[in-house]
Amino acid sequence: MLVLGIETSCDETAASVVRDGREILSSVVYSQLVHQKYGGVVPELASRAHMTAIVPVVEKALNRAGVGLPDVDGIAVTQGPGLVGSLMVGLMFAKAQAYALNKPFIGIHHLEGHLFANLLEDTDWASPFVFMAVSGGHTELILVNDKGNYLSLGATLDDAAGEAFDKVAKLLGLDYPGGPEVEKTARGGNPNFVKFPRALLDEESLDFSFSGIKTAVVYYVQDKPREFIREHLADLCASFQEAVVEVLAEKCIRALSKTGARALALGGGVACNRRLREVAEERCKALGVRLSVPDRALCSDNGAMIAAAGDFRLSRRERSPWDITARSRMGLS
Ligand code: KG4
Ligand code: ZN
Repeated sequence: MLVLGIETSCDETAASVVRDGREILSSVVYSQLVHQKYGGVVPELASRAHMTAIVPVVEKALNRAGVGLPDVDGIAVTQGPGLVGSLMVGLMFAKAQAYALNKPFIGIHHLEGHLFANLLEDTDWASPFVFMAVSGGHTELILVNDKGNYLSLGATLDDAAGEAFDKVAKLLGLDYPGGPEVEKTARGGNPNFVKFPRALLDEESLDFSFSGIKTAVVYYVQDKPREFIREHLADLCASFQEAVVEVLAEKCIRALSKTGARALALGGGVACNRRLREVAEERCKALGVRLSVPDRALCSDNGAMIAAAGDFRLSRRERSPWDITARSRMGLS
């Protein structure tokens, strides 16, 4: 089965053709550059940029896969959560194509997409397992009882982890998106230079909070001379990154012990972070727990993960009605 997957929930216009939910025949990701000078995503500009990019991006994905639209067996598209104006572009485009060509059509939850990015590379899933979605819009721990059977264990009460990376990067004068910039700058820095707060680690809960650490960085930087900040940029980035990574990894381990699950999967842009991947690996190894982390290109937003999740749902004969709408908030079920 060939599925075309389309993703436009934030600032990436992405399309991909995947065979049988596993084999990526093409994956085209256009990252909108227009937001860079604002230091964050401007929703109105994002939806306009999606409108210009959607046709060439889908065409490129089909061309690279060596297929035409009539050859695909189904079309999957992100329905939510995300920016409504952005989601709408992908959703309406996918709907129109599927309707015109009479193809099976399915709306996908963005986080289910990030989860299925794991399945593209690691075919041997042992359920139940814990999945941590960690991106610019989400930080959530989910118990995956089986494909399509999910239980939320905890989530961020305020900022998402990626959002904290982006905000701290902006504060330190680094470019957007901040995650990769902070990671790069942190190289060679001292992670113990400042002990930033590790929120909610003294509680049982599997929720997260990242607004406190961001404020702690603001206060730390506020009364220091510019020279000092410039000189210790690597140390500050490393210290911030270490605090976030420690909290993320620790909560994963707690989720594993609370549920008795023996495997952990990661997904979302922050899962690109090398320090997070390293710490997750160390901790899982010590516990004898299996770890699945997609290739970096599949951790951040892409169409292949949506096609993979779409393949699963379409194979079960699920279809979305033609009147589904874009949803900024949406539960995973
Ligand atoms: O999954 P994604 O592409 O889009 C959303 O669904 O949000 O994630 C983007 C987020 C951004 O906040 C970005 O700064 C963060 O992922 N990110 C990283 C890294 N690469 C991307 N955060 C930390 N370290 C990285 N290497
Ligand atoms: Zn995402």
